[in-house]
Amino acid sequence: MDQRIAVLVHVLGVVVWVGGMFFAYVALRPAAVQTLEPAQRLPLWAATFERFFPWVWLSVIALFVSGLYLIAVYGGFGAVGLYIHTMLILGLIMMLIFFRVYFAPYRRLKNGVAAQEWKSAAAALAQIRVLIGINLSIGIAVIFIAILGKLWI
Ligand code: HEM
Repeated sequence: MDQRIAVLVHVLGVVVWVGGMFFAYVALRPAAVQTLEPAQRLPLWAATFERFFPWVWLSVIALFVSGLYLIAVYGGFGAVGLYIHTMLILGLIMMLIFFRVYFAPYRRLKNGVAAQEWKSAAAALAQIRVLIGINLSIGIAVIFIAILGKLWI
């Protein structure tokens, strides 16, 4: 595989995952709070995540595989800069946070919405919001580290 193909795959993964979190957090969430009652808002979020999360799984795989491939091309873990090690560690933390969202509160949100138990669905959504806020912040930090890190570390 050409190195540029790996960078392309890597950047597409970043765009889909971080861009999707940015849209959800900064635009859709406040708009949904402003315009919808819980009985409409919570099913909207369940349906939104049902469509977005398969793309996040794909992005996670794309980022991980292309990132490790690039490290191999650059001569392995010993040869790459500290900023790439930092990206790998922060990327793994982001992935663990996503798995946590997917297998715990997202499940509860879906079940709560299916049973029309708005209280438990709202509690699950509040947890998802916190975790996605954390992942969005780490994601933006990783972009800074990936692009500017080469200058310093
Ligand atoms: C989890 C495993 C990851 C590994 C092993 C990894 C590894 C790498 C490597 C080796 C490069 C090439 C650096 C260079 O050419 O100087 C790179 C570039 C980059 N990575 Fe990652 N990365 C990972 C996750 C992430 C994540 C989660 C993000 C963002 C949220 C990210 C954002 C970027 C960006 C923006 C670039 C710059 C692409 C370019 O050259 O234009 N990476 N990554």
